[in-house]
Amino acid sequence: MVALGVWVIGPAGNVGACTIAGWAAVRAELLPPTGLVTAAPPLSELPLAPLDDVVFGGHEIGGRSVADAVRGLVAEGILPAAVVEAAPVRAALAATAAEVCRGVTGLVGWDAFERVRGDLARFRDRHGCAHVVVLNVASTEARPDGLEQVPATPDGLFEALRGGLRLPASAIYAAAALDLGLAYVNFTPSTGSDLPALHALALARGAVHAGSDGKTGQTLIKTALAPMFAIRRLQVNSWVSHNILGNDDGRALDDPGPRAAKQHSKGASLAAILGYAPESRVGIDYVPSYGDWKVAWDRICFEGFGGAQMTLELTWRGSDTSLAAPLCIDLIRLAALAQRQGERGVLAHLAVFFKNPIGSSEHRLELQWLALIGHLLPVIGADLAVEAAP
Ligand SMILES: NC(=O)c1ccc[n+]([C@@H]2O[C@H](COP(=O)([O-])OP(=O)(O)OC[C@H]3O[C@@H](n4cnc5c(N)ncnc54)[C@H](O)[C@@H]3O)[C@@H](O)[C@H]2O)c1
Repeated sequence: MVALGVWVIGPAGNVGACTIAGWAAVRAELLPPTGLVTAAPPLSELPLAPLDDVVFGGHEIGGRSVADAVRGLVAEGILPAAVVEAAPVRAALAATAAEVCRGVTGLVGWDAFERVRGDLARFRDRHGCAHVVVLNVASTEARPDGLEQVPATPDGLFEALRGGLRLPASAIYAAAALDLGLAYVNFTPSTGSDLPALHALALARGAVHAGSDGKTGQTLIKTALAPMFAIRRLQVNSWVSHNILGNDDGRALDDPGPRAAKQHSKGASLAAILGYAPESRVGIDYVPSYGDWKVAWDRICFEGFGGAQMTLELTWRGSDTSLAAPLCIDLIRLAALAQRQGERGVLAHLAVFFKNPIGSSEHRLELQWLALIGHLLPVIGADLAVEAAP
């Protein structure tokens, strides 16, 4: 019997592997919990599932093992070699390898749904998991046309799937997880659980879900900075963003379908925060020699009193994976907590973690953070309310 099962869609990707190895390293105190918001007050006061009572598994379609992916992270200078070679991390990677099943990809239907649901149920039952969180960190999919015609009720959806309807793999994984009453977190811009029938399915099965697309870099900055222009009533005339990255995510985003899904997700926040839509572009270039070390560049043209024209430019260089993995650990633990607390449906209070939050129209980083604390304060205990105040 274990307290928590974590099922990773795409465990041999950079983010999946760094989350699994990072979890083991933090648990063994080989790495400090830098970047983990659940490791510091007030969230560390929550009754979170302990880090040491967990089992990982996942669905993967690539040929690389999780251990190979972790070696790649060492070669890129993201994780220290001594940490991933330490016995607790090696043991966690070996245990995960034994739990990885062949995934599904592309547009898939009822057979895939049944197979995925079976894999998840066997994992849960084999380990007697009290709770299971399914985390999607697979490559970004293209968003297919016609999703608005998918039946809006769970029964209608299942009937259509049995009749030959095919959905993107991310939605099939989400449907299987929610149908079993498991928690589902979509860290990618792919469809995942964001279909009316899956929202209804989560409510019907008492499952929780959250998404979409982890807010780790450029959008994190954008949603911290754009409120400044709004508060001071400075008119933003244009906001041009560009990303250069060379990892496998970058390679996947070189394909126009997935790139459009990512650009849509990255573009969601600006108009919502400013209240108007300035001229805006989000470019993504794949340059393999950059590896995981992404460069994100922003140029903002804005106007002040008397029409004075001003600009702000900033460049951010960061390891995409190092920024993403702690968020994944936080999301897993917070989704498991919500499940344990008997919540159901969309976890809108987790909006601070996402570029395109499901169930929330709030994009301003600080207000999202306060909403998260506000939601969790009753769980933490009223005495900590004072500590949470800025
Ligand atoms: N790194 C970040 O900062 C960040 C931020 C937000 C979102 N994301 C998203 O997280 C996802 C993962 O990023 P990454 O850098 O780890 O990418 P990656 O390419 O290194 O890993 C993706 C993994 O998913 C596997 N995969 C692809 N399709 C699959 C499927 N249908 N079923 C099972 N496995 C599948 C691949 O084989 C690969 O192992 C991407 O969608 C990315 O856009 C990443």
